[in-house]
Amino acid sequence: MKVAVFATKGYDRESFVQVNGRFGHELSFYEPKLTPATAVLAAGYEAVCVFVNDQVNRETITQLAAGGTRIIATRSAGYNQIDLQAAEEMGISVVRVPAYSPNAISEFTVGLILTLGRQIHRAYNRVRDNNFELDGLQGFEIHGKTIGVFGTGRIGTAVLRNLSGFGANLLAYDLYRNPEAEKLARYIGDPVELARQCDIITLHLPLTPQTHHLISARTIPLLKDGVFIINTSRGALLDTAAVIEGLKSGKIGYLAIDVYEVEGDLFFQDLSNEVVTDDVFSRLLTFPNVLVTGHQAFLTDRALRNIAETTLQNLTDLTETGHCENLVLFQYVTG
Ligand code: NAI
Repeated sequence: MKVAVFATKGYDRESFVQVNGRFGHELSFYEPKLTPATAVLAAGYEAVCVFVNDQVNRETITQLAAGGTRIIATRSAGYNQIDLQAAEEMGISVVRVPAYSPNAISEFTVGLILTLGRQIHRAYNRVRDNNFELDGLQGFEIHGKTIGVFGTGRIGTAVLRNLSGFGANLLAYDLYRNPEAEKLARYIGDPVELARQCDIITLHLPLTPQTHHLISARTIPLLKDGVFIINTSRGALLDTAAVIEGLKSGKIGYLAIDVYEVEGDLFFQDLSNEVVTDDVFSRLLTFPNVLVTGHQAFLTDRALRNIAETTLQNLTDLTETGHCENLVLFQYVTG
């Protein structure tokens, strides 16, 4: 199958080319994101492969359909960047990679807690400057803290597993109880009640209308003073402007994020010689108790290999059988 792979970096090309030896798809790699302006590059390709910040909106999908594209394969678990209704109307199937390595994200989440909680990132910079002063590097121990995991799917449960050796009080919230998570944490049925109890809150929910701006001006006052919030899920779970107010007042004591609600114009590119015009994002970077990474929690060797394998298998399955276990939306007709 001819596949136009958008928003590719060197590591994507490497893993896809290596794994594709077994599948034999005809892959064309494009550095730009898929947008209404770049969709023309996919003309004549039966499938496009996209990532989290591609603009797979109605305008883009209209152009894809006109160019003969029948499948959108996102190489991510989340698919909130894709207008599913438009895809359905235009007869395009959507497949995804539901789980490529939950541990990649869960271990990174624990890493964020340790890094910011113990000031390791600041210590690294100081020592490289021959500054061995410890003032300002005081941290806290995870042992004895109450940690709330919001979302106990694949990643949230892996976080609970990874955190279980620290001697923390682990609490959880989800619409559905996960038997493995139930053995590791105590579920609290009311999210507000859970939030009230937590020293540390880590979010592992998909972005949906229900979870959009879960942390907002309305909910921040309900949190414990000095709470530590971690978001490695999707940026818009946080209302960033409200979070900044929470940081300024001290209500939020620590913030570690790997995702940002309008990250599309920032992340996955080198802007070190550019003027960043997003004042909200720039304000975040001024806080000593904020740690931001650029959507890298997934980036491990195993995850990249699994992403390539599942994406290429999805395309093979759809072509050969007309079915695929990782369908988000099925429209594809073989023959
Ligand atoms: P999952 O689908 O396995 O788990 C999500 C859980 O959230 C489910 O248990 C579901 O019941 C629960 N949930 C959904 N809506 C809810 C609501 N309104 N209230 C309470 N619970 C709700 O998803 P997974 O794989 O654990 O991913 C979690 C998040 O991590 C997703 O947003 C995904 O996009 C993000 N992610 C981030 C990556 C990164 O590199 N930073 C990489 C991979 C995923």
